[in-house]
Amino acid sequence: MIGEDAKLRRAARIHTPAALGAEATRDVSAALNVLLADLFSLYLKTKNFHWHVSGPHFRDYHLLFDEQADQIFALTDPVAERVRKVGGATLHSIGHIGRLQRFADNDADYVSPLDMLAELREDNLQLAARMRETHGICNEHGDIVSASLLDGWIDEAETRAWFLFEATRQGDEPGR
Ligand SMILES: [Fe+2]
Repeated sequence: MIGEDAKLRRAARIHTPAALGAEATRDVSAALNVLLADLFSLYLKTKNFHWHVSGPHFRDYHLLFDEQADQIFALTDPVAERVRKVGGATLHSIGHIGRLQRFADNDADYVSPLDMLAELREDNLQLAARMRETHGICNEHGDIVSASLLDGWIDEAETRAWFLFEATRQGDEPGR
């Protein structure tokens, strides 16, 4: 058993200086950590679909999912480091991600390509909406740096949703 004193001493060793105040540290890092868990889970779902997609559009979808997975993964480090810069502690493990993530996993043996596109489209729209909420929390605390990073990340999520939507649109030419 670790005593309270020892716990506090250990917590102090990962403390980082932050200019925004204790409330900002608490609220902004909590919001960014949940977002980080969402990013890791969406990254893995996108990779899952990249690995398991099949059918006549295999090459297109396989490559699209890989591109999008890379883009999502590239956000994880800046989000985690932002948490540290505002004075918080970030995620430690896959288990920690599992406890915080809000996206449902998809462990199905087979998912049709159109269902993959639709599910990722919804998830990316949801991600953009959650990033907007996080943006609001950052603004409340005057954390303009996190807020401006989120601006670009929201645009990326909306771009992914757009690509996924256009890829599912059925041809509407006469006779199809
Ligand atoms: Fe690959």
